[in-house]
Amino acid sequence: MTAILPGYFISFEGIDGAGKSTHIDAFRRMMQERYPAKEIVMTREPGGTPLGEQLRKLLLDSPMNIETEALLMFAARREHIAQVVEPALAAGKIVISDRFTDASFAYQGGGRGLILEKLNELERWVQTLPNGSLLQPDLTILFDLPGEVAEARRSKVRAPDKFEKMDLNFFEKVRQEYLRRAKNDPGRFHLVDATQTPEAIWDDLKLMQIGFK
Ligand code: TYD
Repeated sequence: MTAILPGYFISFEGIDGAGKSTHIDAFRRMMQERYPAKEIVMTREPGGTPLGEQLRKLLLDSPMNIETEALLMFAARREHIAQVVEPALAAGKIVISDRFTDASFAYQGGGRGLILEKLNELERWVQTLPNGSLLQPDLTILFDLPGEVAEARRSKVRAPDKFEKMDLNFFEKVRQEYLRRAKNDPGRFHLVDATQTPEAIWDDLKLMQIGFK
C-alpha cells in the first residue's frame, strides 16, 4: 500500500514465457494517454539501478545457494526502492516495474522452496516505509498460463538464463504461488489469462479499471 505516497505503483508479473514483456511498453503508452500530465518511470527487477543491474547479472548467470539468491534479490530491491521507486512515488509519478516482490515469493518461495517466514522477514526489512507501512504495488498485473505453454513459447525465442533452464515442475510451483498470492489479495491483483492471443490480452488490459486519480 503506497497510500502515504502520492504516486501510483504498478508491477507486471508471471512465469517466464507468459508474455508480459510483449505488453509492458504498450501499457506504458496507454497510461501516458490516460494521464498526460503524469511522469511515468519504467523499471525492472532484479535491476533498475546500476548496482541492481550488476546483481541481476550474477543472479541470472551464477549458480548459488537459495538463501544467497533471496538475499541478493532483496539487496537489489532495497537499492531499487531507495534510488528509484520511493523518490518517484513521493514525487507523484507513476512507476511501472517489470517484476517486484511477488516474484521473490513465487520463484524463491514457491519454486525453490525457501520458507515463507524468511521471505516475509526480508520483505519487512526492505519495504517498510518511514510511517511503518509496507511498500507494495497498488496494482499487480499477473500474466497466468500453464507451465508447458510457457515452456513452448520460451524455447522459440532466446537462449535461456539460469531460471529459464528450470524444469516444468519448478514453473508449475512458481505459478501456483503467484495464483495463491493473487487469490489472497484480489484488490491488488489483476489476473490476465495469458493463453489468449496478444490482441485479446490487449483488450483485457485496455478495459482494466485503474484506481488512480
Ligand atoms: P525477467 O523479468 O523474466 O526478464 P527477461 O524477460 O529479460 O528474462 O527475468 C528475471 C528473472 O529473475 C525471472 O526468471 C524471474 C527471476 N526473479 C526471481 O527469481 N526473483 C525475484 O525476486 C525477481 C524480481 C526475479
